[in-house]
Amino acid sequence: MINMNAKYRDTYEAVAKQIPFEPEICVVLGSGLGDFAEKVETIRSIPTSSLPNYPVSTVQGHDGYLHFANYANKKLLIVQGRIHLYEGYRISQCMVPVYVSSKLNCKKILLTNAAGGVNQHFTPGDLMLNSSFNGINIKKELTDLIGITSLEKKNTFLDFPSHAFINIVKNAALQEKISLKEGVYWFNKGPSYETPAEIRMTSYFGGDAVGMSTAHEAVYAAYLGMEVAAISCITNMAAGLSSQKLSHTEVMETAEMVKKDFERLVKKIIELS
Ligand code: HPA
Repeated sequence: MINMNAKYRDTYEAVAKQIPFEPEICVVLGSGLGDFAEKVETIRSIPTSSLPNYPVSTVQGHDGYLHFANYANKKLLIVQGRIHLYEGYRISQCMVPVYVSSKLNCKKILLTNAAGGVNQHFTPGDLMLNSSFNGINIKKELTDLIGITSLEKKNTFLDFPSHAFINIVKNAALQEKISLKEGVYWFNKGPSYETPAEIRMTSYFGGDAVGMSTAHEAVYAAYLGMEVAAISCITNMAAGLSSQKLSHTEVMETAEMVKKDFERLVKKIIELS
Protein backbone atom coordinates (compact mmCIF):
# COMPACT_ATOMS: atom_id res chain seq x y z
CA MET A 1 0.00 0.00 0.00
CA ILE A 2 1.34 3.43 -0.94
CA ASN A 3 1.81 5.87 1.92
CA MET A 4 0.62 9.11 0.34
CA ASN A 5 1.29 11.00 3.61
CA ALA A 6 4.95 10.11 3.49
CA LYS A 7 5.26 11.05 -0.19
CA TYR A 8 3.04 14.10 -0.55
CA ARG A 9 2.79 15.68 2.89
CA ASP A 10 4.98 18.59 1.67
CA THR A 11 2.68 19.14 -1.29
CA TYR A 12 -0.39 19.27 0.96
CA GLU A 13 1.33 21.54 3.49
CA ALA A 14 2.38 24.00 0.78
CA VAL A 15 -1.26 24.21 -0.37
CA ALA A 16 -2.65 24.36 3.18
CA LYS A 17 -0.53 27.46 3.91
CA GLN A 18 -2.18 29.35 1.06
CA ILE A 19 -5.85 28.34 1.21
CA PRO A 20 -8.49 31.04 1.70
CA PHE A 21 -10.94 28.40 3.06
CA GLU A 22 -11.50 24.65 3.38
CA PRO A 23 -13.26 23.56 0.18
CA GLU A 24 -16.61 21.70 0.28
CA ILE A 25 -16.65 20.43 -3.30
CA CYS A 26 -13.71 19.54 -5.50
CA VAL A 27 -14.26 19.72 -9.28
CA VAL A 28 -11.65 18.02 -11.48
CA LEU A 29 -11.72 19.43 -15.01
CA GLY A 30 -11.27 17.14 -18.01
CA SER A 31 -9.82 17.76 -21.49
CA GLY A 32 -11.08 20.97 -23.04
CA LEU A 33 -13.20 21.87 -20.01
CA GLY A 34 -10.28 23.67 -18.43
CA ASP A 35 -11.58 27.22 -18.23
CA PHE A 36 -14.44 26.58 -15.81
CA ALA A 37 -12.58 28.53 -13.12
CA GLU A 38 -13.13 31.68 -15.17
CA LYS A 39 -16.90 31.20 -14.86
CA VAL A 40 -16.98 31.41 -11.05
CA GLU A 41 -15.60 33.82 -8.47
CA THR A 42 -12.01 32.69 -8.05
CA ILE A 43 -10.41 33.79 -4.79
CA ARG A 44 -6.97 32.21 -5.18
CA SER A 45 -5.23 30.29 -7.94
CA ILE A 46 -2.16 28.28 -6.99
CA PRO A 47 0.04 27.23 -9.94
CA THR A 48 0.80 23.57 -9.38
CA SER A 49 4.33 24.18 -10.70
CA SER A 50 4.98 26.13 -7.46
CA LEU A 51 4.15 23.11 -5.27
CA PRO A 52 6.79 20.59 -4.13
CA ASN A 53 6.41 17.12 -5.68
CA TYR A 54 3.33 18.10 -7.68
CA PRO A 55 3.59 16.31 -11.06
CA VAL A 56 3.72 18.53 -14.14
CA SER A 57 0.76 18.09 -16.47
CA THR A 58 2.05 17.77 -20.01
CA VAL A 59 -1.22 17.56 -21.95
CA GLN A 60 -2.58 20.33 -24.16
CA GLY A 61 -5.70 21.73 -22.43
CA HIS A 62 -4.49 20.72 -18.96
CA ASP A 63 -2.74 23.78 -17.46
CA GLY A 64 -1.90 23.13 -13.82
CA TYR A 65 -3.72 25.22 -11.19
CA LEU A 66 -5.58 24.64 -7.97
CA HIS A 67 -8.30 27.30 -7.93
CA PHE A 68 -10.14 28.19 -4.76
CA ALA A 69 -13.46 29.68 -5.80
CA ASN A 70 -16.98 30.52 -4.67
CA TYR A 71 -20.20 29.73 -6.44
CA ALA A 72 -23.75 29.66 -5.05
CA ASN A 73 -22.44 30.01 -1.50
CA LYS A 74 -20.32 26.89 -1.92
CA LYS A 75 -16.60 26.79 -1.42
CA LEU A 76 -14.89 25.08 -4.33
CA LEU A 77 -11.53 23.61 -5.17
CA ILE A 78 -11.22 23.43 -8.95
CA VAL A 79 -8.43 21.20 -10.19
CA GLN A 80 -7.15 22.34 -13.58
CA GLY A 81 -4.45 20.13 -15.05
CA ARG A 82 -5.13 16.50 -14.45
CA ILE A 83 -2.29 13.98 -14.13
CA HIS A 84 -2.58 10.89 -16.34
CA LEU A 85 -0.92 7.48 -16.26
CA TYR A 86 -0.21 7.82 -19.99
CA GLU A 87 2.09 10.76 -19.28
CA GLY A 88 4.39 8.25 -17.63
CA TYR A 89 3.34 8.99 -14.07
CA ARG A 90 2.75 6.42 -11.36
CA ILE A 91 -0.73 6.00 -9.92
CA SER A 92 0.31 7.73 -6.66
CA GLN A 93 1.29 10.82 -8.68
CA CYS A 94 -2.08 10.82 -10.46
CA MET A 95 -3.73 10.79 -7.05
CA VAL A 96 -2.10 13.97 -5.67
CA PRO A 97 -5.09 16.27 -6.42
CA VAL A 98 -7.53 13.81 -4.79
CA TYR A 99 -5.22 13.32 -1.82
CA VAL A 100 -4.76 17.08 -1.29
CA SER A 101 -8.49 17.82 -1.56
CA SER A 102 -9.32 15.09 0.95
CA LYS A 103 -6.62 16.32 3.36
CA LEU A 104 -8.18 19.79 3.09
CA ASN A 105 -11.39 18.21 4.42
CA CYS A 106 -13.30 18.34 1.16
CA LYS A 107 -16.22 15.89 1.29
CA LYS A 108 -17.42 15.75 -2.33
CA ILE A 109 -15.60 15.32 -5.61
CA LEU A 110 -17.02 15.77 -9.10
CA LEU A 111 -14.77 14.26 -11.76
CA THR A 112 -15.20 15.29 -15.38
CA ASN A 113 -13.57 13.83 -18.45
CA ALA A 114 -13.60 13.58 -22.20
CA ALA A 115 -14.42 10.10 -23.46
CA GLY A 116 -15.00 8.16 -26.67
CA GLY A 117 -18.53 6.84 -27.18
CA VAL A 118 -18.81 3.05 -27.40
CA ASN A 119 -22.57 2.84 -26.97
CA GLN A 120 -24.00 3.30 -30.48
CA HIS A 121 -26.91 5.32 -29.12
CA PHE A 122 -24.49 8.09 -28.18
CA THR A 123 -23.37 10.94 -30.40
CA PRO A 124 -20.39 13.30 -29.97
CA GLY A 125 -21.47 16.16 -27.75
CA ASP A 126 -23.53 13.98 -25.37
CA LEU A 127 -22.89 14.20 -21.63
CA MET A 128 -22.82 10.87 -19.76
CA LEU A 129 -23.13 10.29 -16.05
CA ASN A 130 -20.66 7.55 -15.09
CA SER A 131 -22.81 4.87 -13.46
CA SER A 132 -19.85 2.55 -12.92
CA PHE A 133 -16.22 1.95 -13.88
CA ASN A 134 -14.02 -0.95 -14.84
CA GLY A 135 -11.05 -1.56 -12.61
CA ILE A 136 -9.80 -4.85 -13.98
CA ASN A 137 -7.02 -3.41 -16.12
CA ILE A 138 -5.61 -1.37 -13.21
CA LYS A 139 -6.27 -3.86 -10.43
CA LYS A 140 -2.61 -4.13 -9.44
CA GLU A 141 -2.18 -0.34 -9.29
CA LEU A 142 -5.39 0.04 -7.27
CA THR A 143 -4.27 -2.66 -4.86
CA ASP A 144 -0.92 -0.92 -4.42
CA LEU A 145 -2.71 2.33 -3.85
CA ILE A 146 -5.33 1.43 -1.30
CA GLY A 147 -4.23 -1.96 -0.11
CA ILE A 148 -7.51 -3.69 -0.89
CA THR A 149 -6.94 -7.24 -2.02
CA SER A 150 -10.49 -8.54 -2.01
CA LEU A 151 -13.13 -7.11 -4.32
CA GLU A 152 -15.81 -8.28 -1.88
CA LYS A 153 -14.31 -6.14 0.82
CA LYS A 154 -14.09 -3.22 -1.56
CA ASN A 155 -17.77 -3.46 -2.45
CA THR A 156 -18.90 -3.62 1.15
CA PHE A 157 -17.42 -0.36 2.24
CA LEU A 158 -17.34 1.92 -0.74
CA ASP A 159 -20.48 3.87 -1.69
CA PHE A 160 -19.17 4.19 -5.16
CA PRO A 161 -20.19 6.18 -7.12
CA SER A 162 -22.13 7.90 -4.34
CA HIS A 163 -25.90 7.36 -4.68
CA ALA A 164 -26.75 10.67 -3.01
CA PHE A 165 -24.37 12.67 -5.18
CA ILE A 166 -25.53 10.91 -8.35
CA ASN A 167 -29.12 11.85 -7.56
CA ILE A 168 -28.01 15.48 -7.29
CA VAL A 169 -26.37 15.21 -10.74
CA LYS A 170 -29.56 13.73 -12.24
CA ASN A 171 -31.74 16.44 -10.66
CA ALA A 172 -29.38 19.14 -11.89
CA ALA A 173 -29.67 17.80 -15.46
CA LEU A 174 -33.48 17.67 -15.20
CA GLN A 175 -33.70 21.22 -13.88
CA GLU A 176 -31.37 22.52 -16.59
CA LYS A 177 -33.20 20.44 -19.25
CA ILE A 178 -29.92 18.86 -20.27
CA SER A 179 -30.22 15.37 -21.70
CA LEU A 180 -27.84 13.33 -19.57
CA LYS A 181 -26.96 9.86 -20.80
CA GLU A 182 -25.84 7.25 -18.31
CA GLY A 183 -23.31 4.47 -18.71
CA VAL A 184 -20.18 2.60 -17.75
CA TYR A 185 -16.87 4.47 -18.12
CA TRP A 186 -14.24 2.04 -19.34
CA PHE A 187 -10.72 3.06 -18.36
CA ASN A 188 -7.72 2.38 -20.57
CA LYS A 189 -4.21 3.46 -19.71
CA GLY A 190 -3.40 4.83 -23.16
CA PRO A 191 -1.38 6.62 -24.37
CA SER A 192 -2.77 5.60 -27.75
CA TYR A 193 -6.46 5.46 -28.50
CA GLU A 194 -7.98 2.00 -28.59
CA THR A 195 -8.08 -0.21 -31.66
CA PRO A 196 -11.44 -1.07 -33.27
CA ALA A 197 -11.00 -4.63 -31.91
CA GLU A 198 -10.54 -3.34 -28.37
CA ILE A 199 -13.66 -1.21 -28.74
CA ARG A 200 -15.69 -4.25 -29.87
CA MET A 201 -14.41 -6.08 -26.78
CA THR A 202 -15.27 -3.12 -24.53
CA SER A 203 -18.79 -3.03 -25.92
CA TYR A 204 -19.15 -6.78 -25.37
CA PHE A 205 -17.98 -6.36 -21.77
CA GLY A 206 -20.52 -3.61 -21.09
CA GLY A 207 -18.52 -0.39 -21.46
CA ASP A 208 -20.44 2.61 -22.83
CA ALA A 209 -17.52 5.05 -23.12
CA VAL A 210 -13.73 4.83 -23.05
CA GLY A 211 -11.26 7.22 -21.46
CA MET A 212 -7.83 7.46 -19.85
CA SER A 213 -8.58 9.01 -16.46
CA THR A 214 -11.19 9.11 -13.69
CA ALA A 215 -11.67 5.43 -12.70
CA HIS A 216 -8.69 5.28 -10.31
CA GLU A 217 -9.39 8.80 -9.00
CA ALA A 218 -12.97 7.76 -8.22
CA VAL A 219 -11.89 4.58 -6.41
CA TYR A 220 -9.30 6.43 -4.34
CA ALA A 221 -11.63 9.32 -3.45
CA ALA A 222 -14.33 6.85 -2.36
CA TYR A 223 -11.74 4.97 -0.31
CA LEU A 224 -10.87 8.26 1.42
CA GLY A 225 -14.57 8.66 2.28
CA MET A 226 -15.46 11.33 -0.27
CA GLU A 227 -18.78 11.35 -2.13
CA VAL A 228 -17.94 10.76 -5.78
CA ALA A 229 -19.72 11.50 -9.05
CA ALA A 230 -18.27 11.60 -12.56
CA ILE A 231 -19.48 12.98 -15.88
CA SER A 232 -18.06 12.33 -19.35
CA CYS A 233 -18.28 14.57 -22.34
CA ILE A 234 -18.53 12.21 -25.32
CA THR A 235 -16.13 14.00 -27.65
CA ASN A 236 -15.92 11.39 -30.42
CA MET A 237 -17.15 7.96 -31.33
CA ALA A 238 -14.57 5.37 -30.26
CA ALA A 239 -12.22 3.72 -32.77
CA GLY A 240 -13.95 1.86 -35.58
CA LEU A 241 -17.38 3.37 -34.90
CA SER A 242 -17.08 6.35 -37.19
CA SER A 243 -15.27 7.15 -40.41
CA GLN A 244 -13.61 10.16 -38.77
CA LYS A 245 -9.95 9.81 -37.77
CA LEU A 246 -9.50 10.00 -33.99
CA SER A 247 -7.45 12.94 -32.74
CA HIS A 248 -6.91 15.06 -29.65
CA THR A 249 -7.93 18.06 -31.81
CA GLU A 250 -11.38 16.50 -32.40
CA VAL A 251 -11.66 15.81 -28.66
CA MET A 252 -10.88 19.47 -27.87
CA GLU A 253 -13.20 20.81 -30.60
CA THR A 254 -16.21 18.81 -29.41
CA ALA A 255 -15.51 19.66 -25.76
CA GLU A 256 -15.47 23.33 -26.80
CA MET A 257 -18.89 22.93 -28.49
CA VAL A 258 -20.47 21.36 -25.42
CA LYS A 259 -18.79 23.66 -22.90
CA LYS A 260 -21.84 25.86 -22.29
CA ASP A 261 -24.11 22.91 -21.36
CA PHE A 262 -21.38 21.35 -19.29
CA GLU A 263 -20.87 24.59 -17.35
CA ARG A 264 -24.61 24.98 -16.73
CA LEU A 265 -24.79 21.41 -15.48
CA VAL A 266 -21.78 21.72 -13.16
CA LYS A 267 -23.06 25.03 -11.76
CA LYS A 268 -26.47 23.50 -11.02
CA ILE A 269 -24.82 20.47 -9.39
CA ILE A 270 -22.87 22.85 -7.13
CA GLU A 271 -26.04 24.78 -6.32
CA LEU A 272 -27.94 21.61 -5.36
CA SER A 273 -25.06 20.05 -3.40
N1 HPA B 1 -10.49 6.84 -26.18
C1 HPA B 1 -9.83 7.09 -25.04
N2 HPA B 1 -9.82 8.26 -24.44
C2 HPA B 1 -10.53 9.26 -25.00
C3 HPA B 1 -11.24 9.08 -26.20
C4 HPA B 1 -11.23 7.81 -26.82
O1 HPA B 1 -11.84 7.56 -27.87
N3 HPA B 1 -11.85 10.28 -26.48
C5 HPA B 1 -11.49 11.13 -25.50
N4 HPA B 1 -10.70 10.53 -24.59
